[in-house]
Amino acid sequence: MPLLSSMLAALSRYRAALRNVHWEREIRLWSGLVLFAFVTMHLLNHAIGVLGVPTMEAVQHWRVFIWRSWPGTVALYGAAALHVGLTLKRIALRTPCRMPIEEGLQIVLGLAIPALVLEHALNTRYGSSILSTDDSYTAVLTRIYPNQIAWQTILVLVAWFHGIIGIHYVVRHKPWFERVREIGFALAFSIPLLAIAGFLAAGREAASTVHSEIALAPEQVTGLQQVVEISYQLLIAGGLLIVGALVATEVARSWRGTVPVRYVGHGETALRPGASLLDASRQNRIPHPSLCGGRGRCATCRVLVLSGLETLPEPTYSERMVLSRISAPKNVRLACQIRPKQPIAVQILLPTIARDAGLDWEEEAYKWGVDRNVSILFVDIRAFTSLSKKQLPHDTVLLINRFLGEIAQAVEAHGGRIGMFLSDGVMAIFGLGGQRGMGARNALAAGHAILRAARMLDDELGSALPLPFRVGIGIHCGSAVIARVGDDERGYVITALGETISIASRLEQATKELLADMLVSEAVVQAAGTKPPGSVLREVPMRGHDQPIRAYAYSEAFSEVRPAAQAETQPEAIP
Ligand code: FES
Repeated sequence: MPLLSSMLAALSRYRAALRNVHWEREIRLWSGLVLFAFVTMHLLNHAIGVLGVPTMEAVQHWRVFIWRSWPGTVALYGAAALHVGLTLKRIALRTPCRMPIEEGLQIVLGLAIPALVLEHALNTRYGSSILSTDDSYTAVLTRIYPNQIAWQTILVLVAWFHGIIGIHYVVRHKPWFERVREIGFALAFSIPLLAIAGFLAAGREAASTVHSEIALAPEQVTGLQQVVEISYQLLIAGGLLIVGALVATEVARSWRGTVPVRYVGHGETALRPGASLLDASRQNRIPHPSLCGGRGRCATCRVLVLSGLETLPEPTYSERMVLSRISAPKNVRLACQIRPKQPIAVQILLPTIARDAGLDWEEEAYKWGVDRNVSILFVDIRAFTSLSKKQLPHDTVLLINRFLGEIAQAVEAHGGRIGMFLSDGVMAIFGLGGQRGMGARNALAAGHAILRAARMLDDELGSALPLPFRVGIGIHCGSAVIARVGDDERGYVITALGETISIASRLEQATKELLADMLVSEAVVQAAGTKPPGSVLREVPMRGHDQPIRAYAYSEAFSEVRPAAQAETQPEAIP
């Protein structure tokens, strides 16, 4: 019985979640992915043209088998109908003159696809299915090469980049995006170029041979011409109908009047019924951040609803998920997801950052903070207060600057980035590119390089220093928010925030208690697949944690004498 009731409870939670899913967005996304899979397979098949037309046709056989089967046909045409229909609806609800350039470009490319693809689709699929024409590569290339090269090239580029822009919008804020960014960009440009190259090579090959047997019969030519003509007429009529419907919707909206929206700091504006609050901001040129372009994924458009909250529909499941990720209170909503029908007053919560601020792509990505799995290294000069008290001020400054310079070199030489200069130390970030293991190994290597630099500095300046020059290093890895912090006047710095940083800092402090030079958390050792030689596994209590953090204590003095196996089996807690 308890099992049955928990299953029923889970089922009702699941049904409630399904009711709240942003179905339109999900269907538009998945139907777009089906179409993109079709285009990708088509272009890869074109690319194989560099190996010769027979190879191309062998691959075409399998491609046609998939997409002309019943499931393939339903998936392809169903996806096309859903994607076009939902996109048109979305366009009707947007404010075209205020949408971001990338989104506008995607829509324009998408609208061009039916006109570009119509004749090609009729000459191949319709022709072979209804008029029994030969639509093998040899036959089609012989008919269209070289007269339709430009048309086909434009079609390839338009269809491909329409999909690429959409996919980029969806994945660009995923934690793993940075890891695949370069390969993704390489594929985005190489696949259409290879497709065009394959198409040209195969076209030349097909055109160089006379294929009298694949010429179309007169009735096939007439049949195709008629259907192409009728289809273009229908397309134009459909286009005019859609434009008419959009204009009619716009007129109807203007008759219905507008909804007053008051923005704190920007006065009162008017919102078209049915438009989102973000559209209202764009329409009225109110600076409003929207990193995901209004797709309800980034939460940068969030607003505090000061009045009229009760008149807004409850957040959908996806909006609730995004808001709960940032622990937003009930009166915070996503401007891109709410379509007020009654007057409301709101306050935009995040500032916009000017697009022309000269930011590079990296800073652009970090300006709102992104989750990354990184390794954090803290290094601090031991007994720096005593050291500085016993030295002249300018000697202290020279020493600290010299050492900070050495640290910066060691960090950058191992692919790290200085996240923060402390008065007598540094916090450095490794693995920003998303390679967790590599980041951990680099942090370890940088830790050893810093210890070497400290030892050399001690050898060099030891006789002039009142105390031995020693440092402590703590390294931990895990999830951290990487963000650009600062302001326009004083400048910005990219740094890491979160618990991983606190743990690395605590490990650095614990080096004093453990008389170690470097404490490396077990998580770093696991990610790196290696540990400091001769290090000893210890347990370091953490404030706010039930369990201590297990970390490897490394001391240069003992690195040769402690066998690793013994250390691993006998963890010790700090007294
Ligand atoms: S613009 Fe990204 S969630 Fe609204």
